[in-house]
Amino acid sequence: MRNKWLITGASGNVGQALIRHAQQLDDPPELLFATRKPPATLPEYATYLPFDFAAPTTIDAAVAAADIVFLLRPPQLADVDRYFLPVVEALQRHQKPVVFLSVQGAERSKVIPHNKIERLIEAHNVPYVFLRPSYFMQNLTTTLWDDIVTQRKIVLPAGKAKFNWIDVEDIGAVAATVMANFDPYAGQKLVLTGQENLSFGAVVQRWNNHVATPIRYQSVNPVRFYFYKRKQGMTKGFITVMLLLHFLPRFQQEPEITSTIQDLLHRPPRSLDDFLQDTAKRLHQR
Ligand SMILES: NC(=O)c1ccc[n+]([C@@H]2O[C@H](COP(=O)([O-])OP(=O)(O)OC[C@H]3O[C@@H](n4cnc5c(N)ncnc54)[C@H](OP(=O)(O)O)[C@@H]3O)[C@@H](O)[C@H]2O)c1
Repeated sequence: MRNKWLITGASGNVGQALIRHAQQLDDPPELLFATRKPPATLPEYATYLPFDFAAPTTIDAAVAAADIVFLLRPPQLADVDRYFLPVVEALQRHQKPVVFLSVQGAERSKVIPHNKIERLIEAHNVPYVFLRPSYFMQNLTTTLWDDIVTQRKIVLPAGKAKFNWIDVEDIGAVAATVMANFDPYAGQKLVLTGQENLSFGAVVQRWNNHVATPIRYQSVNPVRFYFYKRKQGMTKGFITVMLLLHFLPRFQQEPEITSTIQDLLHRPPRSLDDFLQDTAKRLHQR
């Protein structure tokens, strides 16, 4: 019988990457596609399971149906007791292991939701692996993409702060590797990074080597950023997430660079240059 993997966030960036890599395994698992609404099409070996962090009744049935759970915190959900305690209790009740998508540096700040979720999982003695990735390259092609395409600019309160850039595909590949062979990794906190720490200014400079119409990086203060994004219709909650992600690194040390991806996948992480070249092709088509 196939191993059953419950994938929360299955329609999102990391969920989709995990599903692509799970399907490439020699013995692909059955994927329980856990989102609020059924997808238009389901991948091979997948079954849809209704799953809503805001509806605890969907949670217990979904966890019970799985052998292992990939848990992700949707960016807009910050109330850990309300949205994640029911999941962790279900994991404990049904004795299911979890691979939790956290964030690099989660251990340093007790106030961020990922830190609270990690502690909740540990306190409930649920077997776990925490994945702590750095800054997604795909932020450029998702949350920042509209400004890049329509105005050829990136507006952020990030100053000259350096970010470590990781490709979401590499996170999906690591998640699939760990879920397929959980026991040797149980209890590990894997910090997943790309090869380079670079500021937005440096990233834009590199990108401009590949694009015809240059892109500008404009660093703004948090208040200006807030009103800029409100004018664009972004919710207050999401602006707060963006502020935390881009403003705080100005006051922190540069991210640590780890060899975890090389160690687990036996190949280097994807380089930012490679990603920027590929993305430049998409920009030329606009
Ligand atoms: N961006 C970064 O640089 C970065 C770096 C490190 C860590 N992270 C962490 O990565 C996570 C985000 O991953 P991602 O980019 O893959 O997310 P994403 O693309 O925004 O996808 C969010 C997923 O959550 C699902 N979802 C939203 N609300 C839900 C609800 N109430 N119940 C059930 N499912 C719900 C969505 O599905 P439906 O809407 O279809 O239901 C979707 O599949 C966050 O925890 C973030 O902190 C991000």
